[in-house]
Amino acid sequence: MLASITYQGEIFPFMSTFIHTLAEHAYQNRTVALVEAGSWAPAAAKVMAKELEGMKDITLTQNKVTVLGSLNDASRAQIEALADELSK
Ligand SMILES: Cc1cc2nc3c(=O)[nH]c(=O)nc-3n(C[C@H](O)[C@H](O)[C@H](O)COP(=O)(O)O)c2cc1C
Repeated sequence: MLASITYQGEIFPFMSTFIHTLAEHAYQNRTVALVEAGSWAPAAAKVMAKELEGMKDITLTQNKVTVLGSLNDASRAQIEALADELSK
């Protein structure tokens, strides 16, 4: 599971470094869940998905989580759906 805030329309620099490090170590053949947060235009999940594109056999979960400001009913439901998917 990769979780990042949105930072200037990108992801937090530490997460970018982490994903690049995964790529350097040929990270592959994994299922990855994306969790993003943001205050006005969350974009971290899209950016992380793009950064994962070059890796081999990476499957994104059907569910992702978007937290806009703070948790609400919608994001809590997304977390539950993601947990259900990951526990199958
Ligand atoms: C320098 C900076 C840039 C940010 N850029 C974005 C952005 O492009 N889009 C967005 O939705 N939120 C942006 N945010 C808000 C962060 O995503 C937000 O602070 C983070 O999700 C944590 O939420 P909180 O500050 O309510 O605890 C930015 C915050 C900072 C400090």
